Amino acid sequence: MQPRRKPWVAAQRDTAPKGRKNVAYTVPKLKDFSPAALDTAVAELVSALEQESTKPGNADQSKAFRDRWLARKDGILTQVNDLWLKAAPKEAKRDVGQRVNKLKTEVAQRVEAALAQGPITSSNASLDISLPGIRRPIGAEHAIIRTMNEIVGVFKNLGYSVAEGPVIETEYYNFEALNFPPNHPARDTQDTLFLANQESKPRREQLLLRTHTSPVQIRTMEKLKPPIRIVIPGKVHRNDPPDASHSPMFHQVEGLAVDTNITFGDLKGTLDHAMKALFGSDVKTSFRPSFFPFTEPSAEMFVSCFICGGSGKRGGGTKEEPCRPCKQTGWIEILGCGMVDPNVFEFVKHNGYDPEKVSGFAFGMGVDRIAMLKYGLDDLQLFFQGDVRFLEQFG
Ligand code: DAH
Repeated sequence: MQPRRKPWVAAQRDTAPKGRKNVAYTVPKLKDFSPAALDTAVAELVSALEQESTKPGNADQSKAFRDRWLARKDGILTQVNDLWLKAAPKEAKRDVGQRVNKLKTEVAQRVEAALAQGPITSSNASLDISLPGIRRPIGAEHAIIRTMNEIVGVFKNLGYSVAEGPVIETEYYNFEALNFPPNHPARDTQDTLFLANQESKPRREQLLLRTHTSPVQIRTMEKLKPPIRIVIPGKVHRNDPPDASHSPMFHQVEGLAVDTNITFGDLKGTLDHAMKALFGSDVKTSFRPSFFPFTEPSAEMFVSCFICGGSGKRGGGTKEEPCRPCKQTGWIEILGCGMVDPNVFEFVKHNGYDPEKVSGFAFGMGVDRIAMLKYGLDDLQLFFQGDVRFLEQFG
């Protein structure tokens, strides 16, 4: 007589299709329906179920697993039904029935889990914690925003507050209240984008895309009484076709300080400090006369070239070449500035800005150009093309 073999192992050897091992089981017929015999039979079935359902597998394998156990025709549960329940003598029916029901629930749960998870797993056996994780790119602060925040940060440290204003602005704030009289040629220096269909409105209410952040000077002085110290970061637009150094949309940081007895010396000291904080303590500043309608006197401020150190040349010996960022002059133009024109104060005199009593200075700088210089770029368009390979370098 042969030794009794575990029915699952035996069945598996007999019936497994070619090339698929360890998969099919046949339910044994039961002769003994005593609780002890049922215990053994059920335990063997459950152990087969456990073994199979803890093996990792793909979607196809999960479906095969489901079919083997649940198929109406010849599925393992159907066999259990036929060979155990139907075949059970009357007095064992109830006991067998209860055990089969429990079994059905167990099988259903495991099949469901296998189908839902893909890989069949009742433990973490398939999770290899030594594999590298999934990297979620978190993005990087845009180089322009970063530069803008740096500039604003320098002035915040000096006690300045941050003010903002609308990008769609009225003619009044963008030009008139900044002492650009209607039809004055100074308006032509800022090639303006106007909104369509504004003709029916009075001229000063007509809308345009602000050409600079200076209108926020007026808006802030209308709201806050002197003394004030503010910086104004923001987007501005001009009708300039895009090229390596122009963009119809760009960014500025404006500044305004108004108090009693503010002098040009305060302006120079403040801006010299700010440039050293931004570009390094070695840089020098130089102020040259200029014109803006809203400041008098006005100046353009230059910093000594922080790329060539002010020499106008880069490299040395045979490798020496002209410094392009400063056009070999050793100086880089950074901003416009000046003492607030008394005509500007006249527009906000009602809020405490009497030109006889207060004075102030203002300045405005282009963030995009500063960011280009800082990061050594020669094409402004890189900032706006959205190429992730470029943008992610600033993380
Ligand atoms: N708004 C000027 C421009 O966009 C820049 C400027 C110059 C701002 C002088 C100022 C200033 O506040 O005082 O060209």
